[in-house]
Amino acid sequence: MRVGIMTGGGDSSGINAAIWSVVRRAHHYGWEVVGLRRGWAGLLEQDTVPLTMEAVAGIPYTGGTFIHTSRTNVFKIENGPQKALDSIKALGLDALIAMGGDDTLGVAHKLCEMGLPAVGLPQTIDNDIGETDFSIGYDTAVNICTEAIQRMHSTNYSHQADMLVEVMGRDAGWIAVNAGLAGGCHYLCIPEVPVQVDDLAAHLAARKKAGAPYSMVCVSEGVQLSSGSVAGELDAFGHAKPGGIANALADDLKAAGVSKPRVVIISYLQRSGPPSSFDMLLGIRMGATAVDLLQQKTYDRMVAAKGGQLVPVPLADALARNRTVDLGLYELAQQLCKEG
Ligand code: F6P
Repeated sequence: MRVGIMTGGGDSSGINAAIWSVVRRAHHYGWEVVGLRRGWAGLLEQDTVPLTMEAVAGIPYTGGTFIHTSRTNVFKIENGPQKALDSIKALGLDALIAMGGDDTLGVAHKLCEMGLPAVGLPQTIDNDIGETDFSIGYDTAVNICTEAIQRMHSTNYSHQADMLVEVMGRDAGWIAVNAGLAGGCHYLCIPEVPVQVDDLAAHLAARKKAGAPYSMVCVSEGVQLSSGSVAGELDAFGHAKPGGIANALADDLKAAGVSKPRVVIISYLQRSGPPSSFDMLLGIRMGATAVDLLQQKTYDRMVAAKGGQLVPVPLADALARNRTVDLGLYELAQQLCKEG
């Protein structure tokens, strides 16, 4: 067997552990693995790199994706789907492993419906892919954001200054809820719940009145403000590029009568650097499971983490709905953050 692997969309930490594991498990079966460079672009352009055991030695501990990524949408390119299937033939690939978020996996699923033998691996720091408790990269991002928030307490205390910390999460607030709670924030803003600026301003003012030297708020980049959004240009999947909404929220808070908080945007730091042990092990376990699915000729599935087990789920089910934050969990976290 000759297996291709590609990674698409935003990178994260833990991808390389999965690639390493795919190569090792495939080696166990006597198969060859080929990396398609730069996401779906690598398939369309037949731009490949041989992934031998030597080539991937030492990569599990590294961040990002060894074979690069892009946000190429096969279905937005003229004749793209047919070109993709022709490339599979031309490259002599028997099967494909696609790793990424809902956009990348959505393309994989549509190509499967056209006859591509493929399986998917969930990878996004947003942790918003359906049917899986965890996506590769999320745990590392939460750890980085938690540490960043914890570190910022001291400067905020010193200056008696309030701060908004913006983390990623376009449609789901998993990072904000968990890093905000673990980092000791005093208020959480997530995309699932429209921000009530007056409530937040009142909370900041009440804390100040009660003698708190500073307050910290964790803000998902995808929050909805009644004053509007700051989303930039659209990508090939039609998503507006988020980033910077905390600055708009700081202005809104000033307009609501409290002093303008400082703003820190953690941005790409949370997607960079070595993976946590959890993400490394998740990537390793998921990568090997994907190869096992191909060995069983099970296609159009995604490897999902459910209750501590890795199980195959239909790609269609994983893509059917965005996995947003459970509102009960959010309300509990918000209450704990706001208390005191
Ligand atoms: O892939 C998810 C994600 O990290 C989102 O949290 C974020 O909105 C987006 O990617 C940023 O994308 P880009 O790398 O194109 O700036």
